[in-house]
Amino acid sequence: MTNNQSHNRIVTPVKSLRGEVSVPGDKSISHRSIMFGSLAEGTTRVSGFLMGEDNLSTWKAFEHMGVVIRQTGSDALEIEGAGLNGLVEPADVLDCGNSGTTMRLMSGLLAGQNFFSVLTGDKYLRKRPMKRVVTPLVSMGARIWGRDGGERAPLAIQGGSLIPTAYSSPVASAQVKSAVLLAGLSVDGETTVTEPHLSRDHSERMLAYFGADVRPFDGGVSLIGRPRLLAQDVVVPGDISSAAFFMVAGLVTPGAELTICNVGINPTRSGIIDILIAMGGQLELLNLREQSGEPVADVLVRYSQLKGIEISGDMVPRAIDEFPVISVAAALAEGTTTISDAEELRVKETDRIAAMVSELGKLGAQVEARPDGMVITGVEQLNGGTVSSHGDHRIAMSMAVAALSARSEVKIEDVACTETSFPGFWNLLDEYK
Ligand code: S3P
Repeated sequence: MTNNQSHNRIVTPVKSLRGEVSVPGDKSISHRSIMFGSLAEGTTRVSGFLMGEDNLSTWKAFEHMGVVIRQTGSDALEIEGAGLNGLVEPADVLDCGNSGTTMRLMSGLLAGQNFFSVLTGDKYLRKRPMKRVVTPLVSMGARIWGRDGGERAPLAIQGGSLIPTAYSSPVASAQVKSAVLLAGLSVDGETTVTEPHLSRDHSERMLAYFGADVRPFDGGVSLIGRPRLLAQDVVVPGDISSAAFFMVAGLVTPGAELTICNVGINPTRSGIIDILIAMGGQLELLNLREQSGEPVADVLVRYSQLKGIEISGDMVPRAIDEFPVISVAAALAEGTTTISDAEELRVKETDRIAAMVSELGKLGAQVEARPDGMVITGVEQLNGGTVSSHGDHRIAMSMAVAALSARSEVKIEDVACTETSFPGFWNLLDEYK
């Protein structure tokens, strides 16, 4: 692999892929460690923190609100918690960069803080829908303004006191659920969120780990407001969404055998493992353990002949960030894979259905877009060619995986975005080839 221009990468096909690999910390858990560490009393120590651009946006935002955060190692930091009422009004606009999690979760938190704040982001984030969090927050009494009638950032928030809610979310979204729970932290009373399918539950787990009274039930979760959050040591596991690239790389590269160490396997995130096993992939979970309230394992993958399957329903939120790389696995599987109920993919960092149909299509894959998913018929081998990331980290890395077993080299344009979730991805890929 060579770097012919700073924003493009050429990935050459590999003969094999063997060894042990560790991926950086979980992005979702890293965001929450800063948020809950900042709201707790005392010093929270975090290790395994993801120093990706998205998490640095959250870090900077809390510094702008007076929180002291010190880097104590390459992936370690200490947060001097300000307590639930200790944040101060930021003197400037808070820039969330490309991070939807930063913007949506902070909207919930800021709605209940007694000060004014403005959240903005990059050109991709400013196009993404925000009413999904603005609507429930307004029903709790929040005052929030945004472009396009409150649908798009920048968002201006005049925080104040909020009332309890029992919100029934029309989408299975951890960002919506977490925004409402974060608003609920400042409420005197109980806040409840229900959702059509269970989305990732890292907020619930970490709030409970910090001492909040969080009560999950079938279909939703309740939180008792104004908890006393106490500082904790948080060990962040490797991100299953980053591990997914190496899982699929191991499965589709002839002769490959890879162990991906220290991967978070929270059941609300481990849909990728179930999907790849259902496709005939040889995956084994080794050394199962628990860290800071989250289940963790090492994942062994071996080259396998994959077959097409149907993916829909509650499997979708359990693998929501993995569909770009799942579509690569499907493009190389025997038979047809049908992905439905996945219209959320259209409002991610980019429209991931349109992006994968277009980019995989350039390499000779048979991929058809549906309003809520894709139909992919596998081919024996993909071609080389030139593809684009669409500015989306997960599209860039998925295309790199597609390139590993292609007939000839693939040039991937606009790859700087991989820094948002997986700094060091290209070097790691080079090392394990
Ligand atoms: C995230 C939730 C998911 C996911 C995103 C991170 C989180 O989004 O796609 O990458 O950290 O809460 P939705 O909750 O909108 O599905």
